Amino acid sequence: MGKDKVIIFDTTLRDGEQSAGIGLTTAEKLEIAKQLEKLGVDVIEAGFAASSPGDLEAVKTIASEVRKPVIASLARCYLDDVDKAWEGVKDAQHPRIHVFISSSDIQIMNQLRKNPEEVLDIAVASVERAKSYCEDVEFSPMDATRTDPQYLYQLLEAVIDAGATTVNIADTVGYTIPSEFAQRIEDIKSNVPNISKAVLSVHCHNDLGLSVANSLSAIRAGVRQVEGCINGLGERAGNASLEEIIMAIDTREDLFNVSTGIDTTQIYRTSRLVSDITGFPVQPNKAIVGANAFRHASGIHQDGVIKDRSTFELIDPQRVGWPSNSLVLGKLSGRAGLRSRLEELGFHLDQQELSEVFEDFKLLADRKREITDQDLEALMSNSRRISDVPNLYQLQHVQVSTGDQGIPTATVKLIDRDGTEFTDAATGTGPVDAVYQAINRVIAVDNVLTEFRVDSVTEGIDAIGDVTIRIEKDGNIFVGRGSDTDIIVASAKAYMNALNRAVSADEKFQS
Ligand code: KIV
Ligand code: ZN
Repeated sequence: MGKDKVIIFDTTLRDGEQSAGIGLTTAEKLEIAKQLEKLGVDVIEAGFAASSPGDLEAVKTIASEVRKPVIASLARCYLDDVDKAWEGVKDAQHPRIHVFISSSDIQIMNQLRKNPEEVLDIAVASVERAKSYCEDVEFSPMDATRTDPQYLYQLLEAVIDAGATTVNIADTVGYTIPSEFAQRIEDIKSNVPNISKAVLSVHCHNDLGLSVANSLSAIRAGVRQVEGCINGLGERAGNASLEEIIMAIDTREDLFNVSTGIDTTQIYRTSRLVSDITGFPVQPNKAIVGANAFRHASGIHQDGVIKDRSTFELIDPQRVGWPSNSLVLGKLSGRAGLRSRLEELGFHLDQQELSEVFEDFKLLADRKREITDQDLEALMSNSRRISDVPNLYQLQHVQVSTGDQGIPTATVKLIDRDGTEFTDAATGTGPVDAVYQAINRVIAVDNVLTEFRVDSVTEGIDAIGDVTIRIEKDGNIFVGRGSDTDIIVASAKAYMNALNRAVSADEKFQS
């Protein structure tokens, strides 16, 4: 008998985007969605259409451009929300409306201020409304793991009768533990008479660090859809990390006896893209995708791996698409070498794009002897940032004088979209502050810098510095990224990137 398939439901663009401090443009969401399609996820929750015009626009764009997976929009149990969700996904090849409502007494009483009977009626009415648009309807009882079991059975039975094709048991506050969760799934299967008419799904949060364990335990108990986010992004401590779930199923096939439609070799690339676009770094010791996930430090381990990799390596890094780093490019490398290395890393460029990246590559090679895969990824991120974010202002030149004696002073030259040049100078508490003050004199956008981070892309004194910043303007967060071998220049690029986002969001809002 063939293995059962577990449906992989990715909510990086919805629950993941709810992580504090993430604010993605439609173009960025589309880029992530296209990569998720390559990864082979079955469902992409593209957003929460009713939550903002920006979310609706992103859901619509993804629905019309990403054709293979099911495209879902979240909706509260309000008829207007359901209508907006449908507006978002109606052009998808495979649309889904995902409605949710609180089911635990804690949330029903204290937040909704309703009674359980009212909630059940509202849930049924919303599922019926969704069903009037779309065959594929998912229903989530929010906080299901803290919900009275008898009420949960009743609610699930009613929404399945109303047409829900997937019911999703949400561990919204990350409360449960694996054995208890498996038991809850078993109990749902035995106490909801029509449960076989719907796909049983789980959605686990990581407040106790148990989201992946809980999801896996539920799969063993028979659920056939699992929800999560790339890199474990999501509200608070995040959602279950999809790459960990996928690789656990893959590695312990003997135990799970289920399959997924995932191309595991796309995992590394997906993780890097999500990290790069969201500005949320992946911790080095993170399973599957952390920088140290396949590094062996102790002598005994290194000795074992040299003799036979399987001694201490559970997963072949290439199975998750980890770059082999076998070829290092340099000053003398040509276009063909660059193209072939980029293709191995998953970047397929046309002639024009290759020429632009080649120019940046040559500039970098002048300053850095060996160009590694990580450097190439940084170059590609830089060029993506330029094409994804409207270049309303460009940095032409930055010059800083600093030291422990004088006052840090910066001069910047910027050019706007009409080609007008602006030069200005300012002092600051340090060189980066001076640069930011000088830029502020040209682009007068009132904002607060809420985060500033410098990471080194590779090791060594000539490493590229990758700067991530977040600025807050009128309650909205804008991320900025920039990389360069000079961290002051990288900081300036990051600030320009964030300001261009802020200015373009303003213009969009006003139009
Ligand atoms: O955590 C949660 O309960 C959710 C639902 C909307 C599924 O994200
Ligand atoms: Zn959630």
